[in-house]
Amino acid sequence: MFIKEIKISNFRNLKSLELLSNGDFNLIVGKNAQGKSNLLEALYSLGLGRSYRTNREEDTIKFQESNAFVTGKFQHGQNEFSLAVAWDRKNRRSITKSIRYNGNPIQKLSEFIEKAPMILFTTDDLEIIRGEPVNRRKYIDLLTSRIYSTHISNLRSYRKILEGRNKWFKLPHSNRDRHLGEIYRQKLISIGSEIILRRLEVMEIIKPIIDRLYSSIFGGETPEIRYRTTVKNIRKKTIEDMQEAFTGTLDNLRSNEFYRKFTLAGPHRDDFDLRLRGKSMRSFASMGEIRSMSVILKLAGVELISEKTGLEPIVLIDDCLNEFDREHIEKFLDFLMGKRQIFYATTELHSYFKKIQDISFFIMEKGEIKPCSQSALEKL
Ligand SMILES: Nc1ncnc2c1ncn2[C@@H]1O[C@H](COP(=O)(O)OP(=O)(O)OP(=O)(O)O)[C@@H](O)[C@H]1O
Ligand SMILES: [Mg+2]
Repeated sequence: MFIKEIKISNFRNLKSLELLSNGDFNLIVGKNAQGKSNLLEALYSLGLGRSYRTNREEDTIKFQESNAFVTGKFQHGQNEFSLAVAWDRKNRRSITKSIRYNGNPIQKLSEFIEKAPMILFTTDDLEIIRGEPVNRRKYIDLLTSRIYSTHISNLRSYRKILEGRNKWFKLPHSNRDRHLGEIYRQKLISIGSEIILRRLEVMEIIKPIIDRLYSSIFGGETPEIRYRTTVKNIRKKTIEDMQEAFTGTLDNLRSNEFYRKFTLAGPHRDDFDLRLRGKSMRSFASMGEIRSMSVILKLAGVELISEKTGLEPIVLIDDCLNEFDREHIEKFLDFLMGKRQIFYATTELHSYFKKIQDISFFIMEKGEIKPCSQSALEKL
């Protein structure tokens, strides 16, 4: 699977941009603040159906403009297809967005994101390890939704139920409809159990992948990864058992939940542990160890998607490998290359790029991109 042609209009500082790609490895070189990350964000929106950087998607429209779009032509085997995302400013605060497959509007995000899987590597990935639990939940949910198409809608429904239930707790006692409270509780349990179960399944699949990747790229002891759920006493990993355990957990938390007035257990409070040599990486690992593991977590996502879906994800790398030594960068790139298309944004033409065959060079300047030769780049 690869992208042949990209057209972008008014996306952040990219006024009007066209990029044709025939190479497997596309290197985008540019000084700071020229639009490299914006280009990767635009590309990634074709993989996600939304901006990964902001929940305020109106921010992605170029200042002073009223609409933006990104379209891509893809090739998968003999098949050609197109994906498009367009944002229209309705007024100061709201926008309308449309996502299209082969020109036809798609209502369900899950259908859209199945088409062209992409994995983005950025320095933000460090937060998966050293950040708050929400960063780890996002990581595992994104991978899970690539494998189970119902996961996105389950997450959305769960969020609504959770909001409703938490509001319900905050109502004065006399206004609390007990029947409604029971409906919330049952829905929380049924959807929440499925979310946890799916995450656990994905965790089990990526563990051996992480082991394999970590030892072949970095060597040494591999960090351990373990899902930690707030649902207690899970006996078997079946939906019935999970629901029973969730019910029991909420029963035990009943008075505490009424006292604290919010939902104390469920996938929204779960996390996963990353341990190296038996110690929490978040508290004890070195920067190098955190960096290595964050890259491996993302790479495991690439492997997971290709193993489970048969689609080779497109890989986007936003200048986040600079701190590694040359040996590790080369091993990492060797691992990725040949099988999949890569877009790599960088401020400098490092020497390790020169060894790569089939590389297409582009220069990014003030939101405009031009193909260019290696020798022209070296002269800059
Ligand atoms: N909605 C927007 N409209 C116009 N310009 C924007 C918008 N959002 C961001 N920008 C600008 O786009 C410019 C390029 O940003 P980008 O993050 O792509 O730079 P970059 O090439 O990745 O630089 P760096 O090497 O520093 O990471 C920035 O100056 C930023 O302020
Ligand atoms: Mg950048």
